[in-house]
Amino acid sequence: MTLGRDRTPPSVVLVGAHGHGRGHLEHLAARTAAGRVRLAGVADVRPLDEQQQALAGDSLFDTDAARVIAEVRPAIVVISTPMHTHSNLARLAFEAGAHVLLEKPPTPTMAEFDALLAAQQAAGVACQIGFQAFGSRAYAELANLVATGALGEIRRIGLTGAWTRAASYYARAAWAGRRSLDGVPVMDGALTNPFAHGVAMAVRLDGSGGAEPVSQVEVDTYRAYPIEADDTASVRITTARGTTVTAAVTLCAETAREPIVEVVGSAGKAELWYTEDRLRTADGECRFDRVDLLDNLLDHLADGVPLVAPLAETRSFMQVVEAIRVGPAATEIEARFQRQDGDRRIVPGVDDVVRQAVAAGALFSELPVAWATGKPFRWTESDRERSAESVRERSTENDRERSTDSNHVSQAGGRIEGQSGVNADE
Ligand SMILES: NC(=O)c1ccc[n+]([C@@H]2O[C@H](COP(=O)([O-])OP(=O)(O)OC[C@H]3O[C@@H](n4cnc5c(N)ncnc54)[C@H](O)[C@@H]3O)[C@@H](O)[C@H]2O)c1
Repeated sequence: MTLGRDRTPPSVVLVGAHGHGRGHLEHLAARTAAGRVRLAGVADVRPLDEQQQALAGDSLFDTDAARVIAEVRPAIVVISTPMHTHSNLARLAFEAGAHVLLEKPPTPTMAEFDALLAAQQAAGVACQIGFQAFGSRAYAELANLVATGALGEIRRIGLTGAWTRAASYYARAAWAGRRSLDGVPVMDGALTNPFAHGVAMAVRLDGSGGAEPVSQVEVDTYRAYPIEADDTASVRITTARGTTVTAAVTLCAETAREPIVEVVGSAGKAELWYTEDRLRTADGECRFDRVDLLDNLLDHLADGVPLVAPLAETRSFMQVVEAIRVGPAATEIEARFQRQDGDRRIVPGVDDVVRQAVAAGALFSELPVAWATGKPFRWTESDRERSAESVRERSTENDRERSTDSNHVSQAGGRIEGQSGVNADE
């Protein structure tokens, strides 16, 4: 479906209006007032407060997203719900023929990602992922420096992140800080959620595309908070082109600083503060503007402008999510290596540790750090392929044992379930 400029504003349904969704609601209300879109429906399992009701105007509200989408038949669905609900809600939208702006991270598992991408392609609709920093012209400039060889041969890429979070951050929702909830993968860790933008950027910058943009991920994760996922994590990624990408982050910093993606090449270095659209190279420092993800989706549908964060382009990020998912649970940072500041947990010295890890291309446990006692886990794409292959073999054997015609459809469905089952058991 394309949307011409001469048509009435495209109708939009928002799914998830609290939390981060409140920002989407404000944005959609403003774009509706400007005549760019028409907010036609809002779905949330929780009722809207007065302010949200005012922003939603006369749009249809329901606690059931399926009902709103079926009633409104929107051109676009914006989804801002917890990550473990993304896959089902996005597929619902695709099946209704709607284009989607889906919050990051796309899904908690690679099997869901593959199924979602297949569903999007089958529906022939567009899907933009909520990695807003990909709309930054600072990112575009850095990607251009890499692609044109202005930085020379790329030696390494890094992501350094040092933020703080209060205990209330993990108390705000049942899924916060979880690897899974009621048996459903969630993956709310530091690299897979709050620093996801930086990870997605760091692995995409190298330009390794194709089916396997990442060939190996070494994972070393920790937690100071009493959570299931990690709040302090390092990964060393090898891309298909052979570039090493190191990401080292914490949510227990002594001093919060904006994260940096850096690219070091044989001819120079560039540093990008992606939350601030600020790029520093040998030529100096510059701030850039950014393209809004919804506007970019609308321009894509009207004029064929390329999406800045299409679902398919987030595959390299998803490989990192998958590696962390199949890896072991985070190692606890002992209480003697932490201190409490109000309702924040702080790991003294961790600000330097994340910087050192990225500079050295090292995992935390490879540095002389007393709390970093974890055993790194190594994931390769070929491990995943072997697992998928063995599932396919098992599935084929099962298929042979079954009668041929009557349950043909359920065999195909079982194959996808089987893949996700094996991944969960790895
Ligand atoms: N792009 C960004 O910078 C950014 C920032 C914060 C959060 N996020 C993403 O936004 C998403 C939501 O995060 P959050 O922190 O706002 O979560 P949240 O739990 O605070 O809010 C999620 C909202 O979705 C609603 N919801 C849950 N299941 C639903 C369903 N099946 N149907 C309809 N509504 C449902 C909840 O009631 C709630 O209103 C996540 O994917 C998160 O990673 C992105």
